[in-house]
Amino acid sequence: MRTALLVVVVVSGCVQREQAASAPDGGTTATSPDASPGTRSGTPDPSGDGDTVFATGDEPTNPFFASLGTNGRSCASCHDANVGWTVTPQELAARFAQSDGTDPVFRPIDGAVSPNADVSTSAARSTAYALLLAKGVFRVGRPMPDGAEFALIAVDDPYGYASASELSLFRRPMPSTNLAFDAAIMWDGREPSLSQQAIDATLGHAQAMAAPTEQVPQIVAFESSLFTAQTYDNGAGDLRLAHGGPVALSTQPYTAGVTNPQATFMLYGAWQNDPNPRRASIARGEVLFNTHPFQIHGVGGMPDRQATCATCHDTPNVGSHSSALALNIGISDAMRRPPTLPLYTLQNLTTNATIQTSDPGLALTTGKWADIGKFEVPSLRAVAMRAPYFHDGFAATLQDVVGFYDQRFGLHLSPSDRGDLVAFLSAL
Ligand code: HEC
Ligand code: HEC
Repeated sequence: MRTALLVVVVVSGCVQREQAASAPDGGTTATSPDASPGTRSGTPDPSGDGDTVFATGDEPTNPFFASLGTNGRSCASCHDANVGWTVTPQELAARFAQSDGTDPVFRPIDGAVSPNADVSTSAARSTAYALLLAKGVFRVGRPMPDGAEFALIAVDDPYGYASASELSLFRRPMPSTNLAFDAAIMWDGREPSLSQQAIDATLGHAQAMAAPTEQVPQIVAFESSLFTAQTYDNGAGDLRLAHGGPVALSTQPYTAGVTNPQATFMLYGAWQNDPNPRRASIARGEVLFNTHPFQIHGVGGMPDRQATCATCHDTPNVGSHSSALALNIGISDAMRRPPTLPLYTLQNLTTNATIQTSDPGLALTTGKWADIGKFEVPSLRAVAMRAPYFHDGFAATLQDVVGFYDQRFGLHLSPSDRGDLVAFLSAL
């Protein structure tokens, strides 16, 4: 069992909690930065704001924030504390405007739709980085694996680059926080350790000439000590008055494979009959997440069965899957592919069956036909801070996430139940 972490510092804030709570619209009143615990941090998100707690106070000096390669990027270029340690279209638009598209996040290697894209003028950069700006996705280039059970028989890449030697896969940066609860690393679980991940990220995203050495354990220690959660809700107020917020999260026990048979999320039960309607809605949403049954069918990696949201998102009070489990819930299916993403046609070498997908997921690591379209179950903490959702940013809002599940599995929820589920997700 991992034991409680000693929390020393809350990332610098800009608004005193008390002021924010008393603002009639829950809006912000900017004051000077203040690093004392209990202050607000992060950019306001659609429903409030979130905080990160660090184990150490010296975060800006960690090599996580240093340029270790040749293109000016640090880990923080794509894992920004203000937006839950990832990137969002809003803050990317601000960076693009401020730098005329030359901020280190905008690099052809994986920020552009193709590494060969023209980035010579401002207008060309808007086109080259259009997918990053629209959905906060980077191009992950991966080859067809040796000995695969399938062949790549057709590529429809709107940007004219992808081939069997390098498929272009457009993916959101998974948050580099709450890693203490991570059973598998990356959307497809392909990295064996955080150390290897940090090395590969430096060589790849930062285009370093050689692997980093002594910085690796420092980066891993830093990122492993981060806990991020929504802290303040515009309607419900301070979420720490129940069991929300990152400090409570940092004390959450975790071992690989752990589940809670009583209930996966036990944060907001005390608000069930609260006179504040938003608090009561969050509490109802938590019950729906834990218990509302629906039938899942055709999910690669899980037999057809009656399930709840918590069947897959089962890590107590976190919502990832507590053991490595890659599933195909259909996000990269051809029917959901927007014209802005490449489409790959794969053929089974034994049966000649074909599948069209915008991202083969785990299958590009294992070479297995059955693994096409499988992705790991992500954590749900601080999810309000980091729209859009799913590996390719398919769902623009949490309402759209719930709409996807409703359409895919038939949740049979009333509009007010759907609102409760969204209110709960927003409070994580
Ligand atoms: C150019 C943007 C970019 C940079 C720079 C970058 N990352 Fe990432 N990061 C991503 C993307 C995209 C993913 C998801 C890719 C995937 O799953 O295929 C990711 C995934 C991760 C994950 C997986 C989290 C999880 O829950 O599994 C960790 C950890 C991580 N990055 C840490 C780092 C570190 C440490 C650095 C610096 C050494 C770094 N990243 C630099 C874009 C970036
Ligand atoms: C059959 C397993 C399964 C069930 C049931 C399930 N999920 Fe998921 N969930 C996943 C997987 C797998 C992903 C990642 C899929 C991808 O991006 O391709 C995911 C992603 C998400 C995300 C996006 C998180 C992010 O960081 O982008 C949210 C939010 C979410 N699920 C909420 C829910 C809710 C709410 C329910 C119940 C209505 C639910 N899930 C039911 C497996 C499941």
